[in-house]
Amino acid sequence: MFSRYLTNFDPATSETRTYDFLVVGSGIAGLWSALEAADHGTVAVVTKGPLEEGSTKYAQGGIAAALCPQDSPALHLQDTMVAGAGLCNQEAVSILVTEGPTRVRELVKRGAQFDEENGQLILAREGAHGIRRIVRAKGDQTGKEVERALVEDIRHNPVDLYEGYFAVDLLTQGEECVGMLTWSIAEQRFVLFIASTTLLATGGAGQLFKVTTNPAVVTGDGMAMAYRAGAWLQDMEFMQFHPTALAKDASPKFLISEAVRGEGARLVNTIGHRFMPDYHPDAELAPRDVVSRSIVAEMQKTGSPHVLLDLTSHSRESIQGRFPTIFQTCCDYGIDPSDELIPVSPAAHYTMGGVRTGLNGETNLKRLYACGEVACTGVHGANRLASNSLLEGLVFGSRSVKAARRAVKHLGAPQVALSPVRRLRPYQEDVGCVETRRTLRNLMWSQVGLLRSEEALVGALDQIDRMAEVVHQLPARPETWELANMVLLSRLIAFAALVRTESRGAHQREDFPKVDDVHWKKHAALHRRTGDGVTIEDDPEISFA
Ligand code: FAD
Ligand code: SIN
Repeated sequence: MFSRYLTNFDPATSETRTYDFLVVGSGIAGLWSALEAADHGTVAVVTKGPLEEGSTKYAQGGIAAALCPQDSPALHLQDTMVAGAGLCNQEAVSILVTEGPTRVRELVKRGAQFDEENGQLILAREGAHGIRRIVRAKGDQTGKEVERALVEDIRHNPVDLYEGYFAVDLLTQGEECVGMLTWSIAEQRFVLFIASTTLLATGGAGQLFKVTTNPAVVTGDGMAMAYRAGAWLQDMEFMQFHPTALAKDASPKFLISEAVRGEGARLVNTIGHRFMPDYHPDAELAPRDVVSRSIVAEMQKTGSPHVLLDLTSHSRESIQGRFPTIFQTCCDYGIDPSDELIPVSPAAHYTMGGVRTGLNGETNLKRLYACGEVACTGVHGANRLASNSLLEGLVFGSRSVKAARRAVKHLGAPQVALSPVRRLRPYQEDVGCVETRRTLRNLMWSQVGLLRSEEALVGALDQIDRMAEVVHQLPARPETWELANMVLLSRLIAFAALVRTESRGAHQREDFPKVDDVHWKKHAALHRRTGDGVTIEDDPEISFA
């Protein structure tokens, strides 16, 4: 059903460029890694849109790291493990929280300006953090500031930047990755990148769901192409739904940061009841999966499409100062948050699963590394702790580049002898790319979203399989490649969700409402086998706390 390559191409007639380090994606993970690699060989960054575009730019809350004397990596580790609902890889978390503070200081040296008071970083609080430990920029514009600093830095470094290059597929020879097939959108032609090492930093897959906070470029391409190339994916059933997206018609949904609740905002249902204390002792600051599910329960109870976030105990000036973007966006929708309650509801936000990596970003394919949201390092388990994602991009970006540098030194350039790829079936025009994408996103939201059941998942898989047939007949262009990636990943997510017959972290089954540690305190890993099948396996090599 899913072929190895998405398109025909002929290496002999395609333009070819050669690098030591090929980085795909220009969010925090990609740009940070490229900067780390810049002094150690030739580096290219390939990205499908403008350099700045990706989830990173929209991050609000900040970056979590143990930076104050009252905090410690041990406390940060504890909070991360608890939020992860039994599936975090403790070794990976330990690396994240121990190396994190140094990486954040290096980010400051690279030009990122975080909010300070009296020369000290201001630290914010978010859900499931036992202490204030989140650095932020311009109140709620952390991602914008981080991306600005990294883009500015990279433009002053010897890194070749390929904006508007759509990465179509990894090029492999057996179990070795030798580079990437890309499509230059401006020039409408294929360009082959041959690389000693390839680093995937293509972000998550939130766009698979109709309701999401993720920008349009976040369609899971890297995960899909890694899977097609023979890399292992892991934990695909764990999609995080942020509890509080602004419940107004918009795509993507505008996020109302968890930091707003960290500053004391309360959640009430549409009949005025503050409900979170009914569900968890930490109330509004409970782990994200708990808050999202509680909101859905209240929406069902009251028959309303949203609940309400109450920030009215804060003055207009203080909201405007602390959360300028949120304040302005609410006002644009006619809501003054100092005076009115903000309608909020959950939205797909973060992909915990991804390309399975070791502690140095390495995948099971030689010369292929992954970091950032595309990767599954094991630090997030079944539910990511807020503001650990930007940190992961920094920490595992640095580690991936160190490992890639060793590979460049010891392996040298790959010997490449690629054959042309020819599709068997002819393309058909006009089979409804836009419509199929819309149907898929609706389906994923309604049947593979926050609440799942066997019946809904089996029905979804059936429909996805029918879409896969259509997708194979679409003409070769970025929109259809994106759709093909989305269909493939949707299938993997629905399949993994069907197999996990328990509820844990972000994965909630109505027909299996309890955690089942006896059978399911383990990971589902997916690998493309010969032919088209999707198999699911336990991972006996990795042990978990
Ligand atoms: P991204 O920043 O998403 O970048 C992916 C890059 O890959 C993009 O440049 C994209 O164009 C490129 N790409 C994708 N596919 C292709 C392709 N086929 N060919 C070429 N290029 C491709 N996390 C926190 O830690 N703290 C926060 O406060 C926070 N707030 C958030 C708020 C919002 C609204 C959102 C959406 C996320 C937030 N997150 C937060 C999560 C965090 O922002 C992301 O997990 C993180 O930025 C991911 O970084 P990345 O570099 O892996 O991917
Ligand atoms: C937020 O600001 O609520 C988002 C934080 C995150 O996703 O880590």
